[in-house]
Amino acid sequence: MKKIINPFIVSGKIEPEYFCDRVSESASLIKSLTNGNNLVLISPRRMGKTGLINYCYDKEPIFNNYHTIFIDILHTTSLREFTFLFGKSIFEAILPFGQKMLTSFVHTLKSLSGKFSIDLVTNMPTFNLELGDITRPAMTLEEIFTYLENADKPCIVAFDEFQQIANYPEKNIEALLRTHVQQASNTHFIFAGSEYHIMQKMFMSSARPFYNSADTLELKAIDIDVYARFVIDHMNRGKRTISEELVKEVYRLYSGNTYAMQKTFNELYSITREGSDVTIDMVITAINNVINSKEPMLREQLSNIPDKHKPLLYAIAQEGEAERITSAKFVKDHKLASASAVQYAAAQLLTKGIITKLAGKYSINDPFFALWINRLYGSANLLQQLKG
Ligand SMILES: Nc1ncnc2c1ncn2[C@@H]1O[C@H](COP(=O)(O)OP(=O)(O)OP(=O)(O)O)[C@@H](O)[C@H]1O
Ligand SMILES: [Mg+2]
Repeated sequence: MKKIINPFIVSGKIEPEYFCDRVSESASLIKSLTNGNNLVLISPRRMGKTGLINYCYDKEPIFNNYHTIFIDILHTTSLREFTFLFGKSIFEAILPFGQKMLTSFVHTLKSLSGKFSIDLVTNMPTFNLELGDITRPAMTLEEIFTYLENADKPCIVAFDEFQQIANYPEKNIEALLRTHVQQASNTHFIFAGSEYHIMQKMFMSSARPFYNSADTLELKAIDIDVYARFVIDHMNRGKRTISEELVKEVYRLYSGNTYAMQKTFNELYSITREGSDVTIDMVITAINNVINSKEPMLREQLSNIPDKHKPLLYAIAQEGEAERITSAKFVKDHKLASASAVQYAAAQLLTKGIITKLAGKYSINDPFFALWINRLYGSANLLQQLKG
């Protein structure tokens, strides 16, 4: 008998039957890469970049013809960390392919010679390096690219949160990577990122090394009708029913943020008994349950924001999407100190990744953070927001 699982997956690998849509996006991602191009993948946070990449890695014609490597560099702060993680990710990706490939990897990384050890039982090299073992990152990096160049199959490498390289202290990292990427003929690259302004500057400004070097795919929210169908079908399969209107209200509340929707429907599915119909009260309960489960983390996040930036944060939470935030009207309506104080606070909140600015509109990145703030200060009622 098949295990009964909650069909709204919120972490880890998503099996194709639980993966919603992305038909055209996966086709164009696969087309770019299999035609030998590199790809920039941008979207707001939590829209589904990582999920899309992994979904495509498992599909034909990628699965059987390429080595696929996925590296999240969000937490790296230097070329040395980047190189370490890159090497480690390749090592792990080729591990299942056995001794020959691993040995060739170890031999190619001459700058680390003597640093790898051999497992005495399996006779296989092990990746027991420490960050400090990488003493000449630029050289090791070059060797890694050489290894990819000589791999027995073409490779696809995804750098997730690629904008992070702009924060490394070393100079000319972009130029260095660009040179390697340009010379690679056996590997194609995905550069994924969620910070629009940095990614755009990196790939779309003619003064920068990566200018015009890749196709661009902008991942938007899943279409509202397609997502509604997905939710209704999975609820039905689990012997539950939900109206299209309710799904769409949730969708609009989160402006189509994939994670927030999936998290909410995951909770809603679990609190709905078989044979029942989902009501708006249950939707509200589910959202509150999710917010409650995140409360300690949200509280911590708020406490890390300086008091002088909070009034703007609360104003944006209340508006959902805030426009013309330095206008006299906005400043007055939300009792903010001054236009210049708003401008400064906005810049700080943007840099910290707490808010986003898209097409002139500011919003809080994490929809649950916004809902929690509104709940805390009673400034917007969940039912009204859903009916918005
Ligand atoms: N097509 C999809 N169908 C169903 N669930 C999805 C889909 N795409 C993503 N998800 C879910 O949405 C959430 C966010 O996806 P993912 O982590 O891929 O986004 P992301 O853009 O990489 O986010 P981040 O900016 O945090 O890196 C995850 O919980 C994932 O399981
Ligand atoms: Mg991601």
